[in-house]
Amino acid sequence: MKNSEGKILLLPGDGIGPEVNKALKDVINSADANTAINIEVEEDLVGGASYDKNNTPLTDDVLKKAVSADAVILGSVGGYQYDNLPFEVKPERALLKLRKELDLYANIRPAKVFDALKDASSLKSDIVEGMDIIVLRELTGGIYFGEPRGIRKLPDGQREGINTEVYTTNEIVRLGKVGFEIAEQRKKIVHSVEKANVMESGILWREEIMKLHNEKYKHIDLSNMYADNCAMQLVKQPKQFDVIITGNLFGDILSDISAELTGSLGMLPSASLGDEVNGKRKALYEPVHGSAPDIAGKNIANPIAMILSFAMFLKLSLKNNKVSELIESSVENVLGKGYRTKDIMQSGKNLVTTSDMGSLISKEIKNLSRSF
Ligand code: IPM
Ligand code: MG
Repeated sequence: MKNSEGKILLLPGDGIGPEVNKALKDVINSADANTAINIEVEEDLVGGASYDKNNTPLTDDVLKKAVSADAVILGSVGGYQYDNLPFEVKPERALLKLRKELDLYANIRPAKVFDALKDASSLKSDIVEGMDIIVLRELTGGIYFGEPRGIRKLPDGQREGINTEVYTTNEIVRLGKVGFEIAEQRKKIVHSVEKANVMESGILWREEIMKLHNEKYKHIDLSNMYADNCAMQLVKQPKQFDVIITGNLFGDILSDISAELTGSLGMLPSASLGDEVNGKRKALYEPVHGSAPDIAGKNIANPIAMILSFAMFLKLSLKNNKVSELIESSVENVLGKGYRTKDIMQSGKNLVTTSDMGSLISKEIKNLSRSF
C-alpha cells in the first residue's frame, strides 16, 4: 500500500533543463518502485521550448495544469537564441507568470556546503565549511512587478525606463512569518535585508518586520541589515547567517552570491511556495542554476539540484520526510563514493555524465530503501 501520493507537472524547459529532467525521471521511477510513494507525472513545455512550438513561453493549458498539480518541478528557461525576442514572449516571462498566477510569494533558496565538496568553493574552505544558509526571497512583488513600469519617450526626445519598487504591509508580513517559522526549525537567527537608508519601501519593510518580531517571534534573534552590507558579509563571514529574508530584487542577487559560495551551484534546489489552503499549498520547485546554454546537450550537466528539488517537494508538499531524506542520503552516498559531474570534479574522483549520475542515484535509492 502506497502511503504518499502526489501529482507533479514536470516542465524541463530550455538549455540543460531537459537533460537534468531525464535524470530526475530515473530517480522518480526508482523512488516509486522502491518506496511508499506513488507519483503521477505529467510533462509539458515551458520557456523557449514552448515558444518554439506555440509562440508563447507559457500556454494557458500548461498554466491550468500547473494550477491543478500538487506541484510543478521546473528545469530552467532561457537561451541565447531567445535573447532578441520581444519582452512579453521571452522565456523568463513564463517563470514570472507562473510565480505570479500561483501566488508563490515565498522563495526558499538554501545554500549549503556539502562536506564532500568544501574545497570546491572559491572562498577558503575554513570560511565556508559547514555553511548552511537559507535566503528567503519575496517572489511576487517588489520591483519585478511594481507599477508604473515601462519605457517611454520624453518631450526632449530622450527615452526613460521605469520600474517601481513597492511593498505593502501584507506582502512583508506574510513573508516575514515564513522566515521566522523557518528559523524556528533552525538556528533561530534572522537577518532582514533592505536599503532602509535610501528607500521608503525599505523603511516600511524594516518597521513591519520589527513589529512582527516584537509581537510573535521575540525568541528569534533578528538583525536588520542593509543589502550592500549583506553582500559584503556573505563573502566575508557567511557562517554568521542562518535565514536571510529580503525582497525580490535583493533576493535575486544575494541568493546567487550565497549559492556560488558553496562551490556547487549544480547541487542547490529551491522551493517557491504560496499560502497553505486546506492543508495544501501551491508550490514550484526548481534548481537554483539556470539553463547553462554553453554546456547544454552535452550530457555533462549536474542533475543533483534537480533531484534535490524533488526531495524538497517530498518534504514540503507531500510532508514525506522519510523518502525525502532517503533521496538526500542517496545523493550524499554517491558523492561519498567519489562520483562527480564535471562542474564538481576533483582530482582522484570518478567523472560521470548527467545520465550516469541519475542512474547511480537511482540505484542507491534502491539499495538504501532496503534498510530505511
Ligand atoms: C532567478 C532568475 C530569474 C529571476 C530570471 C530567470 C527571471 O534569475 O530565479 O533567480 O530574476 O528571478
Ligand atoms: Mg536570479
